Amino acid sequence: MTGAVVPPIYATSTFAQDGVGGLRGGYEYARSANPTRTALEECLAALEGGVRGFAFASGLAAEDTLLRAIGKPGAHVVIPDDAYGGTWRLFARVHEPWGLSATAVPLTDLAAVEAAVRPETTVVWIETPTNPLLRVADIEAIAEIAHAAGALVVVDNTFASPYLQQPLALGADVVVHSTTKYCGGHSDVIGGALVVKDPGLVERLEFFQNAIGGVPSPFDCWLVLRGLRTLAVRMERHCDNAEQVAAFLEGDRRVASVFYPGLSDHAGHDLAKRQMRRFGGMVSFAAAGGEQAALDVCARTRVFTLAESLGGVESLIEHPGRMTHASVAGTELEVPADLVRLSVGIEDAEDLIADLDQALGS
Ligand SMILES: Cc1ncc(COP(=O)(O)O)c(C=O)c1O
Repeated sequence: MTGAVVPPIYATSTFAQDGVGGLRGGYEYARSANPTRTALEECLAALEGGVRGFAFASGLAAEDTLLRAIGKPGAHVVIPDDAYGGTWRLFARVHEPWGLSATAVPLTDLAAVEAAVRPETTVVWIETPTNPLLRVADIEAIAEIAHAAGALVVVDNTFASPYLQQPLALGADVVVHSTTKYCGGHSDVIGGALVVKDPGLVERLEFFQNAIGGVPSPFDCWLVLRGLRTLAVRMERHCDNAEQVAAFLEGDRRVASVFYPGLSDHAGHDLAKRQMRRFGGMVSFAAAGGEQAALDVCARTRVFTLAESLGGVESLIEHPGRMTHASVAGTELEVPADLVRLSVGIEDAEDLIADLDQALGS
């Protein structure tokens, strides 16, 4: 309307009507729609190649709204046995008591996925690469299995970002994002998103987004949009740095194993090469000295900040067993105690490697 190069922050809760029901541009009340949110939703839909994007107050708010919109008591969901702990907690502790059932399977095993799908399965939920073990699932093959059984395919694309992977083009029906991560990119906002391919789902999600109301503020939408403008250049640098960090760790005697899809001996390397542009900025490794050694590395880094979350320009380190994945302790999703997860930022790669070198100790 004004030529503003950057979409403005519409800090308004409501919109004037030209006579009862005379909406200007369709805007009525800011839970239902806000122009800053519309700009973000259009951007997300374009990046993922979908027909409609929906922005939420967090990744989990997006997931919860989706589950309520496409699930119902008695419905069954196939979920990864390696996934963000909060996603598992949402299924197991929020939706299962309301009548949804979930079966956790290794998505790298297509026969196991096929065996887990039942007539009442409504969703096959994919996370790839997975959090925190960086396993790679074949979206196209799983979509074939799920669609043959009449189930929808949801892909959590948080780790890859739409720059590295576009699940809708590979057969997925819905993409989920924690935009808190690579989309936002600067560790300064919590947000979530859904993008859909099928116009048939749009109306239902529009209804549920408004009826449940887990929407982001205009300022939060503006921050995610600002992050998205540099997504491509940030992701290239995250990948450059992660490749160098993984190569350093792989050759080090203080490290028992390295999990990074970019390594040629990673079980999902060839698949990742096919379905991703590059291999991403997340690297996990098992400390040779066990759990205490893993905790010690986390305590000693100076450039990597010890913190939960990922996908920001600054490097983070964490111990999944005691931090991001504490909620899955004692379940089939429990993560190894010697595991360290790195979100490799865009700093100088030599600084990052030197920091890990000193933190690994003698
Ligand atoms: C892969 C993945 N999906 C979803 C979420 C949940 O997103 P949020 O923390 O924005 O609710 C996270 C958070 O860490 C995540 O790592």
